[in-house]
Amino acid sequence: MSSYKTRKTPGNTEWFRHDRFGMFIHWGLYAMPARHEWIKSKEMMTDEHYQRYFDHFDPDMYDPKEWARQAKAAGMKYVVLTTKHHEGFCLFDSKYTDFKSTNTPCGKDLVREYVDAFRAEGLKIGFYYSLIDWHHEDFTIDSRHPKKMLPDALEQNKTKDMRKYAEYMRNQVTELLTNYGKIHILWFDFSYKPEYGCPEFARFAGKGKEDWESEKLIETARKLQPDIIIDNRADIEQDLWTPEQYQPTEWVRHAETGELVTWEACQTFSGSWGYYRDEMTWKSPEQLVGMLIKTVSLGGNLLMNVGPTARGYFDHRAEAALKVYADWMKYNSRSIYGCTMAEPSFKAPQGCLLTQSEDEKRLYVHIMDYPFKALEIEGLAGKIEYVQFLHDASELLYDEKQKVMTDGLTVEKVNESGKVTIFLPVVKPNILFPTIEIFLK
Ligand code: GLC
Repeated sequence: MSSYKTRKTPGNTEWFRHDRFGMFIHWGLYAMPARHEWIKSKEMMTDEHYQRYFDHFDPDMYDPKEWARQAKAAGMKYVVLTTKHHEGFCLFDSKYTDFKSTNTPCGKDLVREYVDAFRAEGLKIGFYYSLIDWHHEDFTIDSRHPKKMLPDALEQNKTKDMRKYAEYMRNQVTELLTNYGKIHILWFDFSYKPEYGCPEFARFAGKGKEDWESEKLIETARKLQPDIIIDNRADIEQDLWTPEQYQPTEWVRHAETGELVTWEACQTFSGSWGYYRDEMTWKSPEQLVGMLIKTVSLGGNLLMNVGPTARGYFDHRAEAALKVYADWMKYNSRSIYGCTMAEPSFKAPQGCLLTQSEDEKRLYVHIMDYPFKALEIEGLAGKIEYVQFLHDASELLYDEKQKVMTDGLTVEKVNESGKVTIFLPVVKPNILFPTIEIFLK
């Protein structure tokens, strides 16, 4: 077992830390305006205006089996779908609202088909559930709400009852965790502090555990699925720390105790979560695979997001991005699954990132910046059993001795820092980031 211990939490995170790589799916009515999942708030749309999306929602090409096939090919082991995002629209047939997919031209319980398809491919199933809800009549207006600029917002809030909304959430979470079999992850989103910058916002409070009645909400979830993994965004610490759209530079730690925690970076292909037609900031193959390696090298998971189109398919840019993962993972997944941060005694050479198997028997050197002919690694001398490239299992020769020139004679001796030289072919193999697999003694 790896010498790194993470903080104990209520859910079962063991499989999660092993699997390392998941697919996030943000899908809802916002795929239709196709200019950000926060569109209703950003453009301060009225409910009447937003209704046009509901009335025309018809993802005729929805084929979750195809989504699941692509996720699996990309090497993803689990999946998290927005069953409801901030807009309040439910992708499942909830008894507690009319604002759901079954009442649109689509007419289907999209969550049901999603669960069946991904489960059939062997992926573990997660549900994202938005704590924020811009459709529910009892959800009070705040600085994030589409009605944030209305002069009478506080007046309107007097008629709203967050207690009722909290109960609505418990009811829906009960539906989600009762009607779809075993669910592995529940991803709540999110709590926030008041915002001051602008005078219109200064009048609002933030929202957190009292508003959501998080204790009861979590209790409801745990009663139904005791070892489910729950994130920390309901403002009560649970199992999962979720840095969003940034890459931590070290293993995430608990703020008070300093313990290492189970963490999952969530990232997008192009900047937004929902389908955004005109977004041009798509990440390069190097960035995509680099994020995965970097994350695992710091003991974390990566949840990579896809925003399907309103017709229900992954557009060509998303497919291409998934293919980048598929091509790399096909040969290199052994350095990802069941791997974590390498023991501190091994120092990554320049331009390389290390991971190590949980049982500490294999060390992986990901070559992010391919050097000329040789790579020197400190802390390894005397510990190597065998070395090969991971992608084709071809042997790599190495030298544990350092050659020192004295008076024109070459003397060999073990380097004091335990440095080992691994010899590489001059031409970089046809792999985005070649990986060296070192079997340790
Ligand atoms: C944010 C956003 C949201 C997205 C989520 C994913 O908090 O509000 O649109 O769903 O992060 O982490």
